[in-house]
Amino acid sequence: MNQDGRPTFTYLGHATVRCDLPDGRVILIDPFVSDNPSCPEALKTFERIDAMLITHPHPDHFADAVGLARKHRPEKVVATFEVCAYLESKGVENCSGMNVGGSQEVLGARVTQVPAIHTSGILDGDRMIYGGVPTGYVVRMPDGYTFYHAGDTALFSDMQLIAELHRPALAFLPIGDHFTMDPKQAARACRFLEIQQVVPIHWGTWPILTGRPQQLEEELASLGVSCRVVTLEPGQSY
Ligand code: NI
Ligand code: MN
Repeated sequence: MNQDGRPTFTYLGHATVRCDLPDGRVILIDPFVSDNPSCPEALKTFERIDAMLITHPHPDHFADAVGLARKHRPEKVVATFEVCAYLESKGVENCSGMNVGGSQEVLGARVTQVPAIHTSGILDGDRMIYGGVPTGYVVRMPDGYTFYHAGDTALFSDMQLIAELHRPALAFLPIGDHFTMDPKQAARACRFLEIQQVVPIHWGTWPILTGRPQQLEEELASLGVSCRVVTLEPGQSY
């Protein structure tokens, strides 16, 4: 825990982030650990999970959602209406389905679901089930500290509205390319978002995700954007 009452973020690799709140409660964003090649073995299990935020149900964000939610029974499992309906059909309790533009209280924080430009389908065996739209989340802590987890997304200019409406200090942004933004787009996202810190995610997990934090730093410098790149190795906390 930080002395200033802000959450401690632990990067579990790929797009999975564990947020330890000052009071000891835990929010897990995009539960993908068992088959996550980046996740350190010791961090694949949890003492507690009090809330879960799911950006979209692709396996690399969702594979452990049912298992971890049934085991830890979080107070709230947050996802789109469609994803929550699927989770409930698999026996997950306390689902709180929402939709983009809306907000709700989660463990005392204000969570707003925001758009992402990507796709969203639920792979169930060999079937693809409709999974609503992909999303990101803006989380405002009780002390006002605000962060944004973009999920999987391309660059979109309405990130400027996220800045105007929510003033996030920090964002978790994908930089890996192929399925999401590359570093060049992510640097422009940092400019649109007017953030002070960016944590690159969705890179290096597999060889196809070629974007690197160093490239993001170079792109930011060439744009003259003063945003600090906080590069976390899987297992590292911030
Ligand atoms: Ni995806
Ligand atoms: Mn992904």
